[in-house]
Formats: sequence, C-alpha cells, structure tokens
Amino acid sequence: MSRGSHPIIRSSLLLGAIALMGTALLASVNDLTRERIIEQEKRRVLQQLNAVIPAASYNNDLLGDVIEVDDETFFQHPAPVTVYRARMDGKAVAAMMIVTAPDGYNGDIRLLAGIDISGKILGVRVVSHKETPGLGDPIELEKSDWVRGFANRSLQNPDSKGWAVKRDGGQFDQFTGATISPRAVVKAVHRALLYFAANSQELFDTPAKTVNADG
Ligand SMILES: Cc1cc2nc3c(=O)[nH]c(=O)nc-3n(C[C@H](O)[C@H](O)[C@H](O)COP(=O)(O)O)c2cc1C
Repeated sequence: MSRGSHPIIRSSLLLGAIALMGTALLASVNDLTRERIIEQEKRRVLQQLNAVIPAASYNNDLLGDVIEVDDETFFQHPAPVTVYRARMDGKAVAAMMIVTAPDGYNGDIRLLAGIDISGKILGVRVVSHKETPGLGDPIELEKSDWVRGFANRSLQNPDSKGWAVKRDGGQFDQFTGATISPRAVVKAVHRALLYFAANSQELFDTPAKTVNADG
C-alpha cells in the first residue's frame, strides 16, 4: 500500500462510517416511529371499542384478549374476523367482532359489532368503507344516526326475516337512492350475530393470540 493512497482510504473509511451511522440512526428513528404508530393505532382501536362497550363494564386488557377467526364461507370474505373479548373478573361480558361486508357499493365495508354475552348488540360502528359520499356514507355515525338502530337488537329482535332492509322486507331503513350500502351492513351484522350464537363458547375459550391492533 503506497503512502499516497492513505488519504483516499481514510476518506473512504470515514464515508463508510458516516453511512453506517446514518443507517443506524435511520433504523432507530424508524423503530421509534413504528412503535408510536402502533401505540396510536391501539389507542384509536380502544376508543372505537369503548364507544360501543363502556370501559366500566369489563376489566381485562381488551386489546390483548383477541383472537382471529377464519371462516371465509360463513363470513363471505377471506379476511379473518378479529374478535376482542371483554371480560369482568374473568367472566365473559361481550365479543367485539370486526367483520367485513364484502358487498358494499364500492367494495369492502369493515364494521365493529359489539355483542354481549346474551347475544344482544351493544353497538355497531363502521370502521372503514369506500361508499359514495352523499349516497352510501350515512352508514357512518359521523354522517347519520342510522347505525345506532342496531343497538339492543338480537337474533330474536327482529327475527331472521326482519334482518334485512325494508326494501327487502326487513326492518332496517335504506337510504334515499342507496340500498346497497345499508343492505351490506345489515347482512354483515346479522352474520356476526349468527356466528356468535353458534360459537360463543369457543369464541371466549380460545386462547388469545397476538395480532395487529387494527385487526
Ligand atoms: C355514481 C353512483 C354511486 C353510487 N353509490 C352508491 C353507494 O355508495 N351506496 C348505495 O347503496 N348505492 C349507491 N348508488 C346507487 C346504486 O347504484 C343503486 O341504484 C341503489 O343502491 C339502489 O337503491 P334504490 O333501490 O333505493 O334506488 C350509486 C349510484 C351511482 C350512479
């Protein structure tokens, strides 16, 4: 190695070290950002859950007590259904199910359906959708009270014929000029109720697994 090449080697080493430090710094900032995003996401999910189930009615770690259910045939969607289990002193209180209606006007509508242990709906909220503003979007609580109409409903109230929009002979309102979005939501909530009724024991007995906060 000649003396003349030393400055070049030194510069290269320095550059390499700077690049390494930069990469390490970027990686740790990335990690921190990801942790913060996950924390924010968890807070957002918990807020949504607590809008449906009062925090005072359970005392377990709702976000940690979660399972995923795969039943594409039943739910008519390949996405697993996330189920947060609410318990009070270990006793089952409610299942908070994130289900996806596949048949919105513009595709998937993700819903949170809170069902108490007796099979009664605590509340339903639309978590995400792509329905048309002014037509299908009254499924959102921010746009209308329509979704509140599910509270206290069950498989007996109304009976299975009633679990449809009025246009289809059921009990739930459609919107002016928009039947597809509310129909998709009503059917998905009904499916969640049916699944809960048939599987409630298993839903609460299955050991929790770690899933992403947004399900
Ligand atoms: C551009 C466009 C967007 C629409 N978006 C929706 C929608 O988001 N949700 C919905 O239910 N219907 C939507 N519709 C209406 C449906 O095509 C369909 O006509 C309607 O849901 C049937 O309801 P009706 O029987 O009350 O007319 C849209 C129609 C058009 C032309």
